[in-house]
Amino acid sequence: MSSAPFDIARIRSSPSIAEIEHHAQIGSTSDRALELARQDELNLPLLILADQQTGGRGRGSNQWWAATGSLTFSLLIDSQQFGIGSPKWPVLSLSTGLAICEALEQIAPGGDFGVKWPNDVYCAGRKICGILIESPSAWRGRVIVGIGLNVNNSLTSAPPDVQALATSLIDYLERPLDMTGVLLNLLAALQLRWRELGAVGFEPQVADFRRRCILDGRTIRVSSGPRLITGRCLGIDDQGSLVLQTERGREEIASGSVVSIQ
Ligand code: BTN
Repeated sequence: MSSAPFDIARIRSSPSIAEIEHHAQIGSTSDRALELARQDELNLPLLILADQQTGGRGRGSNQWWAATGSLTFSLLIDSQQFGIGSPKWPVLSLSTGLAICEALEQIAPGGDFGVKWPNDVYCAGRKICGILIESPSAWRGRVIVGIGLNVNNSLTSAPPDVQALATSLIDYLERPLDMTGVLLNLLAALQLRWRELGAVGFEPQVADFRRRCILDGRTIRVSSGPRLITGRCLGIDDQGSLVLQTERGREEIASGSVVSIQ
């Protein structure tokens, strides 16, 4: 018999959310958030949480593998509530990855957690968390932040392609964690960094992001719109763009994804 992974009453009392919708099983928490985002009257931030997600989406056309024990949720937020206007949305993803790293470090002090621009979270060289940020066009200001974190799902049961690149907290720490505690830590850290982003901007987060950037000094290939750019990573600039030293000189990339790391 499996026990419920979350203490919903405890999560409901978190000051970081206004409302929770909890599903024993759902296709995708972000799809559900997109559905809800069209409604007028909503108490935001709204947390959509699943014990089991069966059809998780990743960035682009990727799927998100989520076995029992993984933490999958989406936060539907009103970005204006945090003071995060649309010009700051590109750095919202960086801020989110950074906050998750910091939450993980609180859970596992001294752990090897880093960010892979723009917003993947890595643990000891392997991906541990994916972030999907979407903004439904009909509702300006509403943003959906979908987060998948490998917690108590050992990668030993994952498909080989996932197993080769990813890890989970249980694999890294060799002990199971309280899922509610992990979630509450994440929510608090996100709240803190998002409020700071709204009130002050990305500036106070730049140095912390740079310190955690796993791409520094590595030769990488980045896909940005129609372009594929190869170069040595020099970190991020103050605006959150990725800086590469390429054959043609220094290039700043405002948006894109890293497709390979040498
Ligand atoms: C990525 O790394 O490509 C992003 C993965 C995001 C996965 C999460 S799991 C919760 C939420 N619901 C989804 O369908 N996707 C996100």
